[in-house]
Amino acid sequence: MIEVRNLCKSFGDRHILDKMSVTIRDGELFSVIGPSGMGKSTFIKCLIRLIAPDSGEIIVDGEDIASTSDEFRLARIRRKFGYLFQEGALFDSMNVFENVSFGLKYLTDIPKSEYPKIVREKLALVGLKGVENLKPAELSGGMKKRVALARSIAVEPKYILYDEPTTGLDPVMTGMVRDMITDMRDKIGVTSVVVTHDLKLALNISSRVAMMSGGRFVECSAPDSFRTSPNPVVQEFMRISGLE
Ligand SMILES: Nc1ncnc2c1ncn2[C@@H]1O[C@H](COP(=O)(O)OP(=O)(O)OP(=O)(O)O)[C@@H](O)[C@H]1O
Ligand SMILES: [Mg+2]
Repeated sequence: MIEVRNLCKSFGDRHILDKMSVTIRDGELFSVIGPSGMGKSTFIKCLIRLIAPDSGEIIVDGEDIASTSDEFRLARIRRKFGYLFQEGALFDSMNVFENVSFGLKYLTDIPKSEYPKIVREKLALVGLKGVENLKPAELSGGMKKRVALARSIAVEPKYILYDEPTTGLDPVMTGMVRDMITDMRDKIGVTSVVVTHDLKLALNISSRVAMMSGGRFVECSAPDSFRTSPNPVVQEFMRISGLE
């Protein structure tokens, strides 16, 4: 469980996160929606301390990571997380095998002899087979995204954070990524936080959808209640998403 309490983060005099509070329960598929520049990426980066918040608490499985400077402790908590960067961010000079096993090498004590089996398993989970020797330049955009996902699940995280997993993909690939996200929940029971502009996707797959505005979540509810929310910010976002 991730409990966020009164989280604040400013850049200069701009308050991006302003006393944000939310609890993400185990097994949830929690989506964060909101206009560009609202602080969605800032929020999920805080969850793994890629960004240090100014104040507030982020309690992951009972441990507060918001203010600790204990690198050993942070590393231990970060190992619980998979993080899918917006651009996939594969290492171009490494092949697929090296990309997917990267975290195993740096974050675990798993012997090298087991990497091939683990890499094969994780690639199978994202619907890829026999691509271990290819370089990122030889993959399509959708394949890169799936390899990046295989890499983020290689260390068997308890939580996966997805930043705009479908942005820039065609409808077929969007469907594939959507299925991948729900599969990760169904097959390995992972807790997911999905940041997206795609309200339709969020309403389709999530247990709860949170709408960010003014540095906090102004609505946080199950898709059915979200759709019928009287909150004007939600209604406006529904309208511009063509979902009214
Ligand atoms: N490291 C930083 N230094 C200064 N300003 C930053 C930094 N990171 C983010 N910001 C600012 O904080 C605001 C929120 O950024 P963030 O990337 O969290 O938005 P977002 O909701 O993810 O937007 P998008 O939907 O476009 O990805 C933006 O105005 C951005 O310019
Ligand atoms: Mg962003």
